[in-house]
Amino acid sequence: MNSQSKIAVKPSARSESLGLSGIRVIFDKVSKMPDAIRLEFGEPDFDTPDNIKAAAIDAVRKGKTKYTPSSGIPELKSAVASKLKRENNIDYDPVKEIVVTAGATSGINLALLATMDYGDEILVPDPGWATYVHAVNIVGAKPIPYVLRESSDYSIDIKELAGLVTRKTKAILINSPSNPMGSILSRTNLQEIADFAIDHNLFVLSDEVYEKFLYQDGGMNEQVSIASLNEMKDRTVMINAFSKTYAMTGWRIGYAGASENIAGAMTKINAAQCSCVSTISQYAALEALKGPQDSVRNMISAFTERRQVLVKGLNEFSGFRCAMPKGAFYAFPNIKETGFRSDELAMKIVDKAHVAVVPGSAFGNQGEGYLRLAYANSVENIQEALVRIRKILN
Ligand SMILES: Cc1ncc(COP(=O)(O)O)c(C=O)c1O
Repeated sequence: MNSQSKIAVKPSARSESLGLSGIRVIFDKVSKMPDAIRLEFGEPDFDTPDNIKAAAIDAVRKGKTKYTPSSGIPELKSAVASKLKRENNIDYDPVKEIVVTAGATSGINLALLATMDYGDEILVPDPGWATYVHAVNIVGAKPIPYVLRESSDYSIDIKELAGLVTRKTKAILINSPSNPMGSILSRTNLQEIADFAIDHNLFVLSDEVYEKFLYQDGGMNEQVSIASLNEMKDRTVMINAFSKTYAMTGWRIGYAGASENIAGAMTKINAAQCSCVSTISQYAALEALKGPQDSVRNMISAFTERRQVLVKGLNEFSGFRCAMPKGAFYAFPNIKETGFRSDELAMKIVDKAHVAVVPGSAFGNQGEGYLRLAYANSVENIQEALVRIRKILN
């Protein structure tokens, strides 16, 4: 083989459209710093609960190691449907309307592949989880960012949305509680989004992976699934996962609820892409839903304490202003008054304080002027990170 022919064959244009994620850049840098305090990663620092691990080991021992149906094992689909009825007030048929996915990431990709054609447009949050834009680009659709503003508590402005709709708009993607802001969409705002979706005949892709990460500060912060609102079930693809709630990021398991035709389309695509989700992870997920839930409660109470420590500390820095996040496990301080761009300040903090934080610009144009710090680390480490950052800001 001559080297010329190697060079002539290029990766696809769609793969080249995917840049290196802003988080990955920071990650690569701090990986070489043994004393770094890691506040960049969106992953609970807890271990997967023992009962879940035991269920996986038991599945292996019992030989549950073969392919499963492409939409998942019936027991897990039933447990998911019961959970969605009990906790989210949505009535899905477990056989036809639930699809087990390889985490929420795969759920989002399948939902996009099942709903969008080439050139279709989908409204996506800005700031928002960067993978949304990548996933939309991969399927050949077009992401149209809608702006979320700190001044309105990151609620969705329906009038602005209406201005973005064209005849190619097929869907809107929402995420509550949100990454990176830790904001939640109120029931009133979700009802407005539902009315908007009905008026414009759009699908809604609703990413609810942080549903359990809700904090109460006097007011009631509730998780409302848009699919539970009137007439919304059949136009929503509800996406969730075990990754965050049960500290199972590496198990790659999640689920989606959708109308029969969309769930069927997602299942066919899942079959073509990976046949089925890991059988062992499916049995582990079944135990996660059916077993004791105290690990979830303990994790949320640890996050509640860390959130207070981090947000209080950030607000003491000159030029920082950090609203108390209502959900997820991220603080998203406004750093505009420091005079630094978000990537400059993030790099300075990484290089000089050895604390890994992510520039807001990694989450879209509207993230500029902010940093994201995940409080998926111990109170002691968060306190030490604050001491280090204070030193270098001084
Ligand atoms: C908003 C959001 N959705 C989905 C995911 C990915 O979830 P999973 O690991 O289940 O694919 C993340 C991970 O950071 C996220 O922040």
